[in-house]
Amino acid sequence: MLGKFIAIEGLEGAGKSTAIDIIKSKIEAAGHKVICTREPGGTPMAEAIRACVKQPWQDEKVTVEAELLLMYAARAQLIANVIKPNLEAGTWVIADRHDMSSQAYQGGGRQIPTDVMEPLRSITLKGFTPDLTLYMDVEPSVGLQRARGRGELDRIEIEDISFFERTRARYLQLCQDNPKAKIIDTMQDMPLVHRDVEQSIKDYLQYVAQVTC
Ligand SMILES: Nc1ncnc2c1ncn2[C@@H]1O[C@H](COP(=O)(O)OP(=O)(O)O)[C@@H](O)[C@H]1O
Ligand SMILES: [Mg+2]
Repeated sequence: MLGKFIAIEGLEGAGKSTAIDIIKSKIEAAGHKVICTREPGGTPMAEAIRACVKQPWQDEKVTVEAELLLMYAARAQLIANVIKPNLEAGTWVIADRHDMSSQAYQGGGRQIPTDVMEPLRSITLKGFTPDLTLYMDVEPSVGLQRARGRGELDRIEIEDISFFERTRARYLQLCQDNPKAKIIDTMQDMPLVHRDVEQSIKDYLQYVAQVTC
């Protein structure tokens, strides 16, 4: 694949959208074409799944299994219709969430065992993984407070704090096990977070330039 696939991960209010703006402009400045995606979503069908996953459904209990399968259905659509064709055309793709979100939220937060998730990952991803992951780390209480500032919380955002603590713990563990993942401390003041994001992307662009020349 010619383009590079960069995933931005983290809890709500971690600063993913803010980081994506910075990363996009740095990569464009380096001369690459860039598109941004979000998950779940990013194709007409996947956006319908996103709306389905986020709404409250009143008296109907949303099972962890249904939520898990919907996330992977949306991801399959996005990879096949948007991410891979763009990478093959040489466009870089910046993803607002990707598979690490499912591993952290469904695996860590919802406590779905890894041996249940692995077959789904394997069917959907077929070994496809981001070239770089930036995980924006935040304490759940701080992130949720920031997210509340932008309006009403959705079905997942109203989970209790222990759900987000488990999700964050799994994120941190996944990053430790992944040499292509970097952790950005977003408890710092914004200018320092921006500096760290810029440095990470600068290092990555340098690395790509080295290995391709
Ligand atoms: N390091 C930070 N310190 C304080 N506020 C932040 C920080 N990073 C992001 N914010 C603010 O928190 C809110 C949520 O950030 P956003 O980038 O939308 O997070 P996400 O996309 O991860 O949900 C925004 O209002 C943003 O300006
Ligand atoms: Mg966002």
